[in-house]
Amino acid sequence: MRSHSCRLFSVSRNNSNCKKGLVLGVYEKEKEDSSLYFTEAADKFDRCLSGKLRELLSISGPPLKKGKSRVFYGIHEDFPSVVVVGLGKNSPGVCNTENWDTCKENIRAAVSVGCRVLQDLEVPLVEVDPCGDPQAAAEGAILGLFEYDEFKQKKKFAVKTQLHCSSDSAAWERGVLYGEGQNLARRLMEAPANHVTPAFFADIIEQKLAPFSDKVVIHKRQKSWIEEQHMGAFLSVSKGSEEPPVFLEIHYNGNADSSQPPLVLVGKGITFDSGGISLKPSSGMDAMRADMAGAATVCSSVVTAAALKFPINIIGLAPLCENMPSGKANKPGDVVKAKNGKTIQVDNTDAEGRLILADALCYAHGFNPKAIVNAATLTGAMDVALGSAATGVFTNSDWLWNQLHRASIVTGDRVWRMPLFQHYTKQVTDSQLADLSNIGKYSRSGGACTAAAFLREFVTAPHWAHLDIAGVMSNKDETPYLRKGMSGRPTRTLVEFAAGLSTEA
Ligand code: BES
Ligand code: MG
Ligand code: ZN
Repeated sequence: MRSHSCRLFSVSRNNSNCKKGLVLGVYEKEKEDSSLYFTEAADKFDRCLSGKLRELLSISGPPLKKGKSRVFYGIHEDFPSVVVVGLGKNSPGVCNTENWDTCKENIRAAVSVGCRVLQDLEVPLVEVDPCGDPQAAAEGAILGLFEYDEFKQKKKFAVKTQLHCSSDSAAWERGVLYGEGQNLARRLMEAPANHVTPAFFADIIEQKLAPFSDKVVIHKRQKSWIEEQHMGAFLSVSKGSEEPPVFLEIHYNGNADSSQPPLVLVGKGITFDSGGISLKPSSGMDAMRADMAGAATVCSSVVTAAALKFPINIIGLAPLCENMPSGKANKPGDVVKAKNGKTIQVDNTDAEGRLILADALCYAHGFNPKAIVNAATLTGAMDVALGSAATGVFTNSDWLWNQLHRASIVTGDRVWRMPLFQHYTKQVTDSQLADLSNIGKYSRSGGACTAAAFLREFVTAPHWAHLDIAGVMSNKDETPYLRKGMSGRPTRTLVEFAAGLSTEA
């Protein structure tokens, strides 16, 4: 354990420590008469200052509410700026109605607030109170400080964060990697579609996997390969665009026994969804640069699993292309044939995600998978149903549901189970010209469910889950530790899910 030096009030003028900031947590008092309730690190710091922090906090205003902060300057030689952040009550833990760990969520939110205050003060190095959960604290710091400014001349001030006063650096480092994994997905999603083309996406993932090349195999499959695979549904979408498609296939072999059945993750990789001939309205269409969120979250999860050296085998698959209107594009009423031989009537060219996933799911079955999990910004209807509160999970497996649900409680990036009734299957298998229609018969009703029922027609594996992530694609201000913009959700839940499979007997 690292201890503070107790040089009071003499602000040093000559070294870089001058620029260090500190984030400390304080809980809400449980009873009216109890005094301020400090975290272990805050208490230690306060004792080092002979109770000065406690005194300053109480004279500077009312007790700190959850998510609020207060800055103190010049109270410690090593830390010219100290931010105290409100953690809420210290007791809650897992909340069975909210379906998350409230303590962890409060830590992520509070730490992100503290780090941002110091970022605005242009403090280059920030030490963070572990607040009893170094992983959650690190996630709050890494996620809270992220802002996408690649194309701006004026950049957000760069802040480095490190763990303050704790021996559990492994948990902190794990949190950093979880956060950075989600930030990678955010970057890919937010970036404009003229930059993140299918080829560019594949190159970035290849770069990110390069440090783990001893355990990683990457295939960037080109159009000729996709044709050989008879992926007629995927090709029908990609042919509307000038941008060539890529089928990205990444293998992470974390288990020394390469015959161990892999977890296969599949992500929708539409780098721009204009709707095609069934063109979307122009208002808000720019957000469809993030229609590769499934591919982004899935591939970022594999990168993170590799960085964390999970002892399992994972395969990531991402069909990548644009959905554009053109003289070669799919037309409403066209019939295409998927890899498994099923024919599909393309009644709406904007229901393109399920077309490219149909072929990718067929291909996933060739790996003798332990489980197949796909993620896709599949339907606006998913956003209507749950908004950004949770990812909708459609699964044929209670085991898989339990694994995903457990993981999401830990990460706070929640999932909610949705139905796969025959009721919906009937609505997509009733097509005039083909085996299937790519939209439900009663088009608007239960749109997320009919889309899931459609995907199920390409699944024979006993453990499959479809994650519709359209509702959680972007953040306004609902998740306090994410700034406004593309969210990168549910990357941490996928990583935590893979971590769970790694420790399973
Ligand atoms: N990418 C969209 C779904 C979407 C909407 C994602 C909003 C994120 C935010 C998808 O390809 C789509 O256009 N789906 C259609 C399906 C419909 C035509 C059956 C939709 O939801 O309107
Ligand atoms: Mg669409
Ligand atoms: Zn789409």
